[in-house]
Amino acid sequence: MSHLVNVDDIKTVAVIGCGTMGNGIAHVFAQTKHNAILVDQSEERLSKAVAAISRNLARQVKKEKITEDDSKATLERITTTTNIKDAGSAQLAVEAVFEDKEVKTSIFEGLANVCDSQTIFASNTSSLPITQLASASGRPDRFIGMHFMNPVPVMKLIELIRGVATSAETFEAIRDLSLRLGKTPVEVNDYPGFVANRILMPMINEAVFAVMEGVSSVEDIDTVMKLGMNHPMGPLTLADFIGLDVCLAIMETLYDGFRDSKYRPCPLLRKMVHAGYLGRKTGRGFYTYEEKI
Ligand code: NAI
Repeated sequence: MSHLVNVDDIKTVAVIGCGTMGNGIAHVFAQTKHNAILVDQSEERLSKAVAAISRNLARQVKKEKITEDDSKATLERITTTTNIKDAGSAQLAVEAVFEDKEVKTSIFEGLANVCDSQTIFASNTSSLPITQLASASGRPDRFIGMHFMNPVPVMKLIELIRGVATSAETFEAIRDLSLRLGKTPVEVNDYPGFVANRILMPMINEAVFAVMEGVSSVEDIDTVMKLGMNHPMGPLTLADFIGLDVCLAIMETLYDGFRDSKYRPCPLLRKMVHAGYLGRKTGRGFYTYEEKI
């Protein structure tokens, strides 16, 4: 029989994958007094992630949102490791590795071997089916989608995705936890792209078609959406920020999930990913950037 999952019992959180999203997720958990264990494949990636968290905390101190002491205490609550076994002490494991079903599945199989049977597993996937990932975890009732937005310490929204078997207790505990993180959770059922990306990505994909067909320039397409629709950022700037590989992976999932041609990925998007022009993280996407982040 399964025990009731209580949000107060979640004191240590393992975050698997320390890239763009993982370092932000560890940051918000540590800032809200949880111990965060950051797991990735190499020490190099882990030290880059800790450097990014330190930079982001310093920015919060400068803006007087937190004090120097808060920043120091947050960093002290974060530990790093390349050994997934170290995730064994967590009451919650949040996966934020590449948007690839096989990679994510092998992470959940690995976590199932080292974590307590009561530990809740969450995926930060942008679009992969939660129900399918849940089956690989061996604990589909204690599995949920926690879709944070980028940059995690700044963005308030979190989509909480129920898989077919996600229990009411798991959902309630993770909703309470999301509120404690200072986020606004939204309940979503498990359909391709959930809500955020089902609406956002076809818009970005359409903007890439407009570039490919020479409808207008990259800058002007962004200007139309910024000044015409009051979007804070144009779709191509946003695509660079998210990562073009991530955008392509989400379009593939939408296309695969619905088998509807309106979700076909734009060939130019695919070509840019093949070229390694992934956006801000590689210094080049629709725009060029001096500093890779
Ligand atoms: P990223 O490429 O910046 O980071 C992925 C990290 O996972 C890398 O540090 C990599 O070394 C690590 N990793 C890969 N395989 C691993 C393994 N077997 N064990 C341990 N670590 C491993 O990717 P990003 O952008 O952080 O995306 C992560 C997830 O978050 C994806 O599922 C993505 O769809 C989702 N997401 C991304 C958003 C974005 O704006 N970039 C927004 C919301 C969700």
